[in-house]
Amino acid sequence: MKLKHSILIFAAATALTFSSCYYDSEEELYPGTAGGNCDTTAVSFSATIQPILAANCNSCHNATVANGGVVTDNYDALMNPVNAGVFHKAINHLPGAVPMPFNGQKLPPCELMKINAWINQGALDN
Ligand code: HEC
Repeated sequence: MKLKHSILIFAAATALTFSSCYYDSEEELYPGTAGGNCDTTAVSFSATIQPILAANCNSCHNATVANGGVVTDNYDALMNPVNAGVFHKAINHLPGAVPMPFNGQKLPPCELMKINAWINQGALDN
């Protein structure tokens, strides 16, 4: 009887643990515009990534003004920081890179998720 009880408690605790993991999902952490309805399945460089970079990065990272030696307004040049890993660290505000946009807020969660998805899919010129 006692053993049955502890098994039940263990099962309940396990269920609770797992359900709380669900609660910490990206959708719950970033509601609304953010992660909730963020479609990261059909990202491409030209349709998804370029517009985000144009709006947030290119003014400081182009052929004329290349802060930190980084150029974000063309694919080939962008591959340098992408392949070095510093692009991913900078936009996600991870240790090892100056956080970008410079002196600004992180990009909105859905934009970040799309860029991260694009990187994970091989950072293709598509
Ligand atoms: C207002 C200007 C400005 C904007 C906007 C900006 N950057 Fe930067 N960026 C800089 C400066 C300045 C540096 C050099 C920082 C340093 O070395 O201290 C830099 C450096 C970087 C680096 C190299 C970081 C490192 O640690 O070596 C990357 C990668 C980068 N930027 C990417 C981006 C991306 C991606 C965006 C858009 C999301 C962006 N930047 C927006 C000014 C800007």
